[in-house]
Parts: sequence; C-alpha cells; structure tokens
Amino acid sequence: MLNSKILRWGISFGLIVVVLVFMVLDFKSLFTKTMEPSLQALPIPPLLSPSSSSLNEVVFTLNAQESRHAYLEGDDVASYGYNGSYLGPTIVVQKGQLVHIQFTNELKEATTLHWHGLILDSTVDGGPHSPIKSNTSIQIDLPIDQEAATLWYHPHLMSNTARQVYLGLAGFLYVEDENSEQLNLPNTYGVDDIPLVIQDRVVVNGHVISYEEAYQSDGTIGNEIMVNGVLHPFLDVDSSLIRLRLLNGSNALSMTYRLDSQASFYQIASDGGFLNQTVELKTLTLSPAERAEILIDLSGLSKGQTVKLLANDQSILDIIVQKDQMNAQSILTTLNDLEPAIDPLRTDRTFSLEGMMSMVSINGKVFDMDVINEQGILHQEEVWEITNVSGMMGAMTHPFHVHGVQFRVLTRNGIAVSESEAGYKDTVAIAPNERVRILITFNQLGLFMYHCHILEHEENGMMGQISISEE
Ligand code: C2O
Ligand code: CU
Ligand code: CU
Repeated sequence: MLNSKILRWGISFGLIVVVLVFMVLDFKSLFTKTMEPSLQALPIPPLLSPSSSSLNEVVFTLNAQESRHAYLEGDDVASYGYNGSYLGPTIVVQKGQLVHIQFTNELKEATTLHWHGLILDSTVDGGPHSPIKSNTSIQIDLPIDQEAATLWYHPHLMSNTARQVYLGLAGFLYVEDENSEQLNLPNTYGVDDIPLVIQDRVVVNGHVISYEEAYQSDGTIGNEIMVNGVLHPFLDVDSSLIRLRLLNGSNALSMTYRLDSQASFYQIASDGGFLNQTVELKTLTLSPAERAEILIDLSGLSKGQTVKLLANDQSILDIIVQKDQMNAQSILTTLNDLEPAIDPLRTDRTFSLEGMMSMVSINGKVFDMDVINEQGILHQEEVWEITNVSGMMGAMTHPFHVHGVQFRVLTRNGIAVSESEAGYKDTVAIAPNERVRILITFNQLGLFMYHCHILEHEENGMMGQISISEE
C-alpha cells in the first residue's frame, strides 16, 4: 500500500519536473526568438531595367544561374537565382504592353519559366509542357492584358519544381495600370513600397540544410522564416504609411501574419489586383503562392521605435521608424470597381482534393502529362466546386491554383467569403472538409494546369489539366 503510494507520488513529481523543464526550455526559445535583435538590413530585390523599350514594347533579359547564398551570415549554401545568387529581380510591366523576355538557362539542368497569375495563352505560360534545356536561350512574348496586380514568376518543370523554387528561383512581377498609378498609395520601390518574399527553411545548428535533407513528401516545412532570403532582417522607414507586398513563397507552409503591437493593418490587394475597398485586419493568412498587399500606419511613432511583423508568431521583420511620425495619413478606402461576384447556383465542375504525402490526387487521379482531364470553352463563365476530402490518412489545407486565369471566390461551405478574399484570386486555400465555390472564366486558349501549390503535392501528382478551345 505505502509503496504504491510513494511510487505514485514519485511518478507525479517526476512528471511535474519534466513539464517544468520543458516549459523553461520552451520559454527560453520563445524569448530568444522574439528578443533577438535583427542584424541585417532587408535585401530588396533589384528592379529589372529593360534592355530596350519603346512606347508599348519592352525587352527584359533574365538568366537562371547556379550560385551560393547565405541565409544566415557566414553560412553560404548552394542556391539558384535569376540574374543573381538568390531569388530574382522585380519586373514591372504596364497593362497594354507587349513584354519580351530574353531568357537564358545557365543551369546544368532544364527549367521552365512560369508566370504565376498572368493571363496568357498556354504557349507562353511556362508550365511543365515547356521545358527549357540547360544552356539554351529563348525569347518569350507576354502581352499584358490585365489590371494592376502583384504576381510572380518561378519554374514549373515536371518533377523538379519544388527543388528549383526552394533553391531560390522566384521573383516578383508587378503589373501597373492607370488605376494603380492614380491611386494615392505608397509606390516608391523599396522605400515605402516593399516587396517581401517570405519562405521557411530548415536550420540545424546555425546551418541551413539542403533541400534533399529537408525534404518531406507532405510538403517541405522549415523551422525558421526568411524574408527576401535572410533571417529576421530590419527595414528603416521614413514615412508614416508603408505598403508591403507579401508573397508566401514557401513550398508548403501557410503563414498567418500580424503585428507585434496587435495593431490593425489594411489589406488593399489580393492575388490578382486591388480589392474594391480597403479591409482592416489584425491577422492575415496566406497559403503557399498567395499574395496580398497591406498598408501599415506608422503615424504617431517616434524615431527609433520598431514595429515587428510576425509570421506564425515568429518575428520575421523589424520595421524601424527613422523620424518622428507626426502626421497621420489618411488611408484610402475605395480602390477598385469590380462587379460583385454572384453565385449562379449551378455547378459546372467539381474537384475533390484528397490525400497526404505521396498519396495525393484530384478527383481520384494522379497527374499524367498525356491525359487531358477537363475540356472547357473560351469566355464561358463556370462555377467550380472544390472540396477537400478527408481520407483515411486525414487531410490538410491545399492551396488550389489555376493557370492562365484570375477567378473570384464565392463561398466557403456555403458562406460568402470575407472582403479580404472577394477580389481577383489565382490561388485559394481549401481547408480540410471545406467546399469552396469559385467563379472562373478562361479568356485564353490552350492547356492550363490546376494544382495544389504545396509544391511537393503538385510533384506527387496533385495536378490536372484543362484544355480550353473555341467551342
Ligand atoms: Cu505558381 Cu502552377 O504555379
Ligand atoms: Cu501558376
Ligand atoms: Cu496539397
């Protein structure tokens, strides 16, 4: 009797000690994570200057190259980059322009150049059907015919997208138009209009490990979140209102952003352009490939004060105010005039996303380059209903992306989506057991991919293709 009592006490006491030790360790890691001062200035991807331009045409030169990059000071690792060692330059184009990209693949392997979010016919979309061999140059002609938006470019080679993106192949493409120029928004590149490519990486003992070592079939996820290729940088700002263009450039991690002050920020754009109205938010979640533009109001702060941007509760960027910010700037409210998206209450296609790890499928099928899964007609408005089905292995959120189009999200499980998602989108997060309806019209001909943007899922076959023809 007595012995068993002592034993029980002993076990309970032991457990309490273990829990306490864990709590202390955990607190310590929390403490070091949030209090660590940032050491490096935020690198800003260079703006790509045209190699030539005339009134409505512009030529840019882009190379994919092999290099080395230091996410952490003193730890340079193998990387890929466009025109540099990591990531790519920001390309700014105007609506109505014809853009020529002179691209050279200097890598030792094939790649493709995909324009995520651009509305293009599939011959120039850069999907898995358009590999560019090692040491070859091509010219790609992109007619820009869509409204202002923050888009991006990245490779899309069959079975080798996830690794190439992870190594660093990703860059911003901004479309500007009359509206974006006439709206009174911060628009000085790198000064008050800041591009942020946000990606997670696996850091072990102060070293960023390779993609192969970090690889997870369910999506490669890291323990540290990098901004523009470095860990926890700082950004000095002079003005009281700044605009951040956020790109979740990670292979698999969804991220929820907030400010350490718990202050609100203001979303002005989603994947494919401006929202009709500014949306005030305290948190914003982006799944892989999604973008958002937000404004942060720094008025009332004084010189030296810092606002921290957090992603999944990790401090990822210190925004440091460089002068006393007396004047509040008014935040624009009306940004765009999109027609309200109305559900016609019919369903033209259904997609069921299922599985985890290497057992993923869409409508029960694994991607096959030689199989055209769907046929559609040019300019015909359709409703797609996408469901994330929990199978035997459970389920996880899948970011569903469609090429060559910008769509509107109608409802999630029958409930109208929030204003934050009511603008143009090309990628939509579908949570487990969720049924999402979208309104979609293809205005370009050809063969377009739709897929999960967890890049490892896409490579494991969570992708299909729709052929769009005149009739
Ligand atoms: Cu961001 Cu199919 O791609
Ligand atoms: Cu895409
Ligand atoms: Cu997925």
